[in-house]
Amino acid sequence: MSTISRRQFVQRSALAGLATQAFTPAPGQASEDRISLAFIGPGGMGTNHIRTLCKRRDVTFSWVCDADSSRAEAGAKLVRELTGQTPRVATDMRRVLDDRTVQAVLMATPDHWHAPGAILAAGAGKHVYVEKPCSHNLREGRLMIEAAARHKVCMQVGTQSRSTAHVIQVIEKLRSGIIGDILAAKAWNSQLRTSHGRQPDSDPPPELDYDLWLGPVPQVPFKKTYHPAHWRWFHHFGAGDFGNDGVHDIDIARWGLGVEQHPSRIIGQGSKLFFDDDQQWPDTLYCAFEYDLPGGKTRQLIYEQRDWSPYVQEGHENGCAWYGTQGMIIGGKSRGWKIFGPRNKLLEEIKPPSGPDLAAHHANFLDAIRTGARLNADITINHLSTALCHLGNIAARTRSALVFDPATEQISGNPDASRLLQRSYRNHWAAPV
Ligand SMILES: NC(=O)c1ccc[n+]([C@@H]2O[C@H](COP(=O)([O-])OP(=O)(O)OC[C@H]3O[C@@H](n4cnc5c(N)ncnc54)[C@H](O)[C@@H]3O)[C@@H](O)[C@H]2O)c1
Repeated sequence: MSTISRRQFVQRSALAGLATQAFTPAPGQASEDRISLAFIGPGGMGTNHIRTLCKRRDVTFSWVCDADSSRAEAGAKLVRELTGQTPRVATDMRRVLDDRTVQAVLMATPDHWHAPGAILAAGAGKHVYVEKPCSHNLREGRLMIEAAARHKVCMQVGTQSRSTAHVIQVIEKLRSGIIGDILAAKAWNSQLRTSHGRQPDSDPPPELDYDLWLGPVPQVPFKKTYHPAHWRWFHHFGAGDFGNDGVHDIDIARWGLGVEQHPSRIIGQGSKLFFDDDQQWPDTLYCAFEYDLPGGKTRQLIYEQRDWSPYVQEGHENGCAWYGTQGMIIGGKSRGWKIFGPRNKLLEEIKPPSGPDLAAHHANFLDAIRTGARLNADITINHLSTALCHLGNIAARTRSALVFDPATEQISGNPDASRLLQRSYRNHWAAPV
């Protein structure tokens, strides 16, 4: 493993002219139009990205990097099989970020690595596609926005519904006024999850470099429930199911409600009603957010989560509803939308051919790099939605009603809640400063 510090790394990138300017194609690139992309974190979702992106012919897949060497090798093998290209393999992302020919990275690591990795990548002049939720905590989202702006790189977040035709269509319907003035919206997440049991601390598997996997998170012993995939149910690594699946739906609900700012007041109630296991986040959660809009208007957004539901709501496991003065729209990103007028008269139905469109979201990212096209889920957009997960979780964890200043991103009069707006890091090369 390389031993350069974060400061040295950023200085080297800056010296190489990478940290201070927008991307310019590196010499030796196969084609002006081909983008050299590295996969970082080819786990469950990362493998989906590989399968989808490898259908494209305008990308050079330069690296596959995973702290778990077996996953890095498996990801590279998959790229070879799908494209005939031979990406280099790494466990330490600094090797990838040191490579000047890499133009973009796709980060599908656990959430605790999103901000540290994306900020380092931006500092190295790489465009970033980072999975959702954009951050592990609210402050990190702000640091990511600043890093993308400072280094003039694209930073797309993995809420692919933002690039999905039928979701865009329903937002256009809302904007057209079909249900009148939209005063409130709701998102729900009603999955049937599984118990993780109780696991003692143990040694990590030999193929996993646990120190790399932990990154700047304070040193905690390994548990089998962390890797792969179940890290998301622990405070150190994820944001529970609100940040996991709920963020997709709250993002769509917020988009439709038309609130492009933070809320001012937040309430949340969350507990483990069903699971008796190691996971730390609530399986049952209710949050409400109130927005003070310019012109004295107020709007409300609600989130509901029950992770033990062997049934769906309104026909949708995960869904959204918008409540307007002339009607309502109810639906979900996977199965479409129903538009109702007064007295529940069905006005229109939008039936999608398929669920969220990952390929379209990739295309938007690559277009933005090539042409400067607007990113559909730019970090500035996703930060507003991911912040709802963090604020709702903080209200539930501290059992308090929060008063939040949208401009300064600070909570008033509640030091316990304020502490959770950020995290502490160990002394580490990737710790955001
Ligand atoms: N957009 C979507 O619809 C969607 C769906 C599922 C998951 N996700 C997101 O994708 C991300 C990954 O989730 P997952 O379920 O695939 O988890 P996972 O645990 O299966 O995969 C994460 C991978 O990242 C690797 N990793 C950890 N630290 C690393 C580092 N420093 N460098 C390189 N690799 C590192 C892990 O070893 C692992 O292989 C999460 O942020 C999750 O929220 C998005």
